[in-house]
Amino acid sequence: MSKSMVVSVILLAIFLLCSPSSVAVLLNKLQLPPPLTGPESLAFDRNGGGPYVTSSDGRIFKYVGSNEGFKEYAYTAPNRNRTICDGLADFSVVQAICGRPLGLGFNHQTNDLYVADAYFGLVKVGPNGGNATQLVGPTQANSTMFADGLDVDPDTGIVYFTIASTNYKLKDFQTVLASGSGDNSGSLLRYDPSTNQTTVLLRNLTIPSGVAVSKEGSFVLVSEYLANRIQRVWLKGPRANSSELFMLLAGRPDNIKRNSGGQFWISVSSFLGTPRSPGCSTLPSGVRVNENGLVLQIVSLVEEYGPEAASEVQEYNGTLYGGSLLASYATSFTS
Ligand SMILES: *[C@@H]1O[C@H](CO)[C@@H](O)[C@H](O)[C@H]1NC(C)=O
Ligand SMILES: *[C@@H]1O[C@H](CO)[C@@H](O)[C@H](O)[C@H]1NC(C)=O
Ligand SMILES: *[C@@H]1O[C@H](CO)[C@@H](O)[C@H](O)[C@H]1NC(C)=O
Ligand SMILES: *[C@@H]1O[C@H](CO)[C@@H](O)[C@H](O)[C@H]1NC(C)=O
Ligand SMILES: *[C@@H]1O[C@H](CO)[C@@H](O)[C@H](O)[C@H]1NC(C)=O
Ligand SMILES: *[C@@H]1O[C@H](CO)[C@@H](O)[C@H](O)[C@H]1NC(C)=O
Ligand SMILES: *[C@@H]1O[C@H](CO)[C@@H](O)[C@H](O)[C@H]1NC(C)=O
Repeated sequence: MSKSMVVSVILLAIFLLCSPSSVAVLLNKLQLPPPLTGPESLAFDRNGGGPYVTSSDGRIFKYVGSNEGFKEYAYTAPNRNRTICDGLADFSVVQAICGRPLGLGFNHQTNDLYVADAYFGLVKVGPNGGNATQLVGPTQANSTMFADGLDVDPDTGIVYFTIASTNYKLKDFQTVLASGSGDNSGSLLRYDPSTNQTTVLLRNLTIPSGVAVSKEGSFVLVSEYLANRIQRVWLKGPRANSSELFMLLAGRPDNIKRNSGGQFWISVSSFLGTPRSPGCSTLPSGVRVNENGLVLQIVSLVEEYGPEAASEVQEYNGTLYGGSLLASYATSFTS
């Protein structure tokens, strides 16, 4: 066992035994237009507009206030047919032509919205929304690229994103979970908009679902949903280009979001497809950690999502927001 692994196991024990834990108090349920589901991730534009959320039918919606709710903003599939796609439920075969955005992040300098799509890979939506441009897609006709997590470095505009798997598609996801498959075909990538170049930072990941770059851009974190862990890839300094275990978790880590102070919120859910262990009753939870992986706070989202998985917890302008792959709403709450 490496030194960092020992440290992480000790941190896990601390997390389980004595972390400051509370139950989230719901402020608002931000309901998607029925019958849509799956605001898996959220983003805010540079003027504080939003949240923008992903949805099951391939569209991205912007929340414009309690009266009007969510309004269509953009879509990811280049030839999206509204007759077939609008109102589509998740895990449909047709999603491959309608698109399924999963990860969202704005470049606040350009107000471009970068999107990780489960079928179309990495795409970019311009400042006025609408049609997207494909940046990194499948290499063969009629194949797909299961992109999932995404973060944009606010200083450099560099986009970090994950390919969850090359063996499975999103529509097979429940099969992957139930089978306990050790699929490790996922990877973490870096896209540089100034050169259009894409490089692979880490391979052989077990359903990498979330990613977040550190405040100073010195490292990037990537969660491995089915391995219950988070890895750190160093980008700068003497350890640049090497990776290490950052944290082990007592649940499935999904999206990771940096707050304005440079800490991270990790969404952690229970082990779907396996009997619930008694210790996991506070899941799903948001876990706030510092840059060393020390747990600072745990907020249970059981009242917001019941036992269903949550996919994201994000802190924005003093409020917490929650996302989910399957729920029909996003949430705002306080801890
Ligand atoms: C942040 O929240 C405050 C109220 O707490 C509000 O006045 C302000 O407009 C918000 N800023 C943004 C960018 O949403
Ligand atoms: C969209 O799909 C419908 C139903 O299959 C079809 O009738 C229509 O021609 C399609 N529209 C376009 C522009 O392909
Ligand atoms: C959307 O953009 C793609 C190229 O990125 C283009 O092929 C397609 O025709 C565009 N669709 C619309 C409705 O403008
Ligand atoms: C891609 O799929 C379309 C429709 O399903 C089909 O018409 C086309 O021949 C396919 N192209 C290739 C290269 O397989
Ligand atoms: C990157 O791609 C865009 C659009 O495809 C193109 O306009 C731009 O010139 C490219 N930049 C570089 C440095 O190749
Ligand atoms: C690592 O992933 C690559 C594809 O990115 C695959 O070819 C290789 O077999 C994997 N290695 C292991 C040990 O699973
Ligand atoms: C990390 O990799 C990059 C690109 O391959 C290289 O330019 C850089 O020198 C490497 N840094 C270290 C510390 O090895």
